[in-house]
Amino acid sequence: MYSTAFLDLPPLQAAAGEVHLPGSKSISNRVLLLAALSSGTTTVHDLLASDDTRVMLDALRQIGCMVDETGGSTVRITGLGGRAPQSPAKIFLGNAGTAMRPLTAALALLGGEFELSGVPRMHERPIGDLVDALRQLGCRIDYLGNDGYPPLRIAHAQGVPALALSAPIRVRGDMSSQFLTALLMALPLAAGTQSIVIEVVGELISRPYIAITLQLLARFGIVVEHQNWQRFTIAAGSRYQSPGDIHVEADASSASYFIAIGAIAASAGGQKGIKIQGVGLDSIQGDIRFVEAARAMGAVVTGGPNWLQIERGAWPLQAIDLDCNHIPDAAMTLAVMALYAKGTTTLRNIASWRVKETDRIAAMATELRKLGATVEEGADFIRVTPPAQTTDWQAASIHTYDDHRVAMCFSLAAFNPAGLPVRIEDPKCVAKTFPDYFEALFSVAQAETARIPVICIDGPTASGKGTVAAAVAQRLGYRFLDSGAIYRITALAALRAGLAIDADHEARIATLAQTLPVRFEDGRVLLGGDDVTDTIRTEEAGMNASRVSALPTVRKALVNLQHSFRRLPGLVADGRDMGTVIFPDAPLKVYLTASAACRADRRYKQLISKGFSASIDDLRADLEARDAKDSSRSVAPLKPAQDALVLDNSTLTIDEVVEQVLAWWQELQPFAVTAQG
Ligand code: DC
Repeated sequence: MYSTAFLDLPPLQAAAGEVHLPGSKSISNRVLLLAALSSGTTTVHDLLASDDTRVMLDALRQIGCMVDETGGSTVRITGLGGRAPQSPAKIFLGNAGTAMRPLTAALALLGGEFELSGVPRMHERPIGDLVDALRQLGCRIDYLGNDGYPPLRIAHAQGVPALALSAPIRVRGDMSSQFLTALLMALPLAAGTQSIVIEVVGELISRPYIAITLQLLARFGIVVEHQNWQRFTIAAGSRYQSPGDIHVEADASSASYFIAIGAIAASAGGQKGIKIQGVGLDSIQGDIRFVEAARAMGAVVTGGPNWLQIERGAWPLQAIDLDCNHIPDAAMTLAVMALYAKGTTTLRNIASWRVKETDRIAAMATELRKLGATVEEGADFIRVTPPAQTTDWQAASIHTYDDHRVAMCFSLAAFNPAGLPVRIEDPKCVAKTFPDYFEALFSVAQAETARIPVICIDGPTASGKGTVAAAVAQRLGYRFLDSGAIYRITALAALRAGLAIDADHEARIATLAQTLPVRFEDGRVLLGGDDVTDTIRTEEAGMNASRVSALPTVRKALVNLQHSFRRLPGLVADGRDMGTVIFPDAPLKVYLTASAACRADRRYKQLISKGFSASIDDLRADLEARDAKDSSRSVAPLKPAQDALVLDNSTLTIDEVVEQVLAWWQELQPFAVTAQG
């Protein structure tokens, strides 16, 4: 997951390959609650790991369910099965509507005293229609903030009061289908000898989500009949029973981004199209009908029981005019696909967008305009006309409103024909449903190598370049290349192979360098199966590296390995010749220096803190000798690139240097600086 302040996507050119999607949020949280209400233990497979399922799991534990999360994406829940929940309890539900609504209804019918709250945005998301329906039944629920919104208190300390179940329970269906889902999942708890009828007032929106609810209820032993999606009857004597094992389908809304990529992006390197694993054309999720909309715009989609395959068809895409009531979440993806269509696309009947994680109509309109599109918005529609010409596209920093779907769908703008980068602010908001979304994107997307940004940080030994480069990489979410480590490893491998490091063995060391079995994992360096992280850090290993690095054939043999680090979304590389030889086209080159006295002092403190003994004078002599050697060698001698920015950091802290490098980097970006939200 990228937890940086922003993530810059370089212009993307093509895409191909396979992605495995995480489990659906709506299915995950429904299954968790149903398991919690059931008798017996349920093993839930392929559960989505996300913010919303996290708050649900924590809440279930709080009310007394046994939750075993030791199995990765397989979680075991032992349900209450008729037991009273643990109470009183204060339950925090973040921004998870799929937890807040159903838990409110279920806890109101289970009895006990509960306070349910969330993040500030959750307190702006309506729940009044559900509370009205529950109060109509006889439940005692108080608002702790504004009327009609969380936080709220369920005050059933003396148990559940007698409920008025003989008359149909009426609930509005035109605001959020989650209210009806909440009642459908809670009321079986109250079904004794009589059946229970729920009547929807007004038109029912997001009907496919209700279909998911009914399908899952059936898996847990609850039969609900409905008449035309207006009147739902829960059979008398209904009892929740665990199905034992249950698998969570991948999220069909998450699939929409990759379906869109397949429709937008050119094929790459002989591979054709995008294959999606985890969800297929037979999905129980309503958003699978996004496929029809994508086809209408030009995508060629085929699929089977658990997979989809997408290729580019009509290009440019065709504009559509569509009622999106049946695919509210995935329809956001259509709004961004509209940027690649000929003509104006209109998405209608999307009023529910206004009460989601953010006001999604306003958010989409604002951000699409930043990219150069012409957008008209209404109470329940959005109309998007793409930039008239390639030159009308603009590089934009996309604000994401703590809304995972805004972040994910705007990543598609990186395929723009103008070759402009796109900045996604607060990329970690995708954690709500798809924590590794950007990793999945980078696994199929391709950019021209020259467009993948590289920041080079060169300089003499102990100049602080390694620490600075690693920190800059972390702040930008970029990959990191410590090229010195590669020379250190080569020297170590040579010595282990019994080769003295000299010109006589140059050819053999070069051969060895070409197939170096090196891996960089979580800050560790592995040579073959051996962890050599500490072994290569000694002064002696540095000297050996310096000697090996003076052999021209060895340097040449290591070029490809170093180039292979230049991958999406970008690279920060530190060394001696990053800017001069390895990445001469890098847009930012920094040459970091510090006085010899200062560098000796830093190295001294570093060694002492690791428990080594050292003498400052020896260290200074060593590093001056190494600098002299690195600067005087015939190939790639240590020197600033002509276009490098030289920074003497003798009197600066690491943080100051990092800020300076980031400021230089920001100056090169086409995005206007905006406040982070
Ligand atoms: O940065 P370092 O101390 O880990 O590097 C060890 C040696 O490797 C250094 O003395 C010279 C050599 N080197 C090089 O020649 N070119 C690079 N890009 C990086 C390191």
